[in-house]
Amino acid sequence: MRTGLQRLEDNINFLRSVPLLKDLSSDVLAKIADALEVEFYPAGAHIIRQGASGDTFFIISAGSVKVTQRLAGRREDEDIRTLQRGDYFGEQALLKEDCRTASVIALQPGVECLTLDRESFIQLIGDLSELHEKDYGDESRVLSRPASSVSIYS
Ligand code: CMP
Repeated sequence: MRTGLQRLEDNINFLRSVPLLKDLSSDVLAKIADALEVEFYPAGAHIIRQGASGDTFFIISAGSVKVTQRLAGRREDEDIRTLQRGDYFGEQALLKEDCRTASVIALQPGVECLTLDRESFIQLIGDLSELHEKDYGDESRVLSRPASSVSIYS
């Protein structure tokens, strides 16, 4: 059986392999490993729903997910991208203090994500330039919005 310490070491080693985190010191990686939670999702689970509010950042440690988006006036979500181990999602709502810009759905059983809450995300990795330079092109798309949300969806 793996001890808590071994699991922490496994998580630090995995974090070291995540491209987004490649320039962070061992000290910061250890702080991230300490702050994160591990979450599992069954196939088809909506990990994030477009238009919802959100306080969590996700790094995929096993399995893959699909990102889908509903554009204004459309009845169906559009498949945008597949993300896999080492990829991340959920940063937009945290950086812009806004609603989720897309849905994220588990593609097979046992999708595993390491998650950070808003406070740890902002404190430990919120300054990374890759996050601020990321441009999905969503600003130029008119996204569908739920009746109750106020945000970029205008
Ligand atoms: P957030 O808006 O918090 O929640 C949905 C996430 O999906 C978003 O953060 C990004 O991480 C991701 N996302 C949004 N738009 C795209 C896109 N066009 N391509 C890939 N990922 C996206």
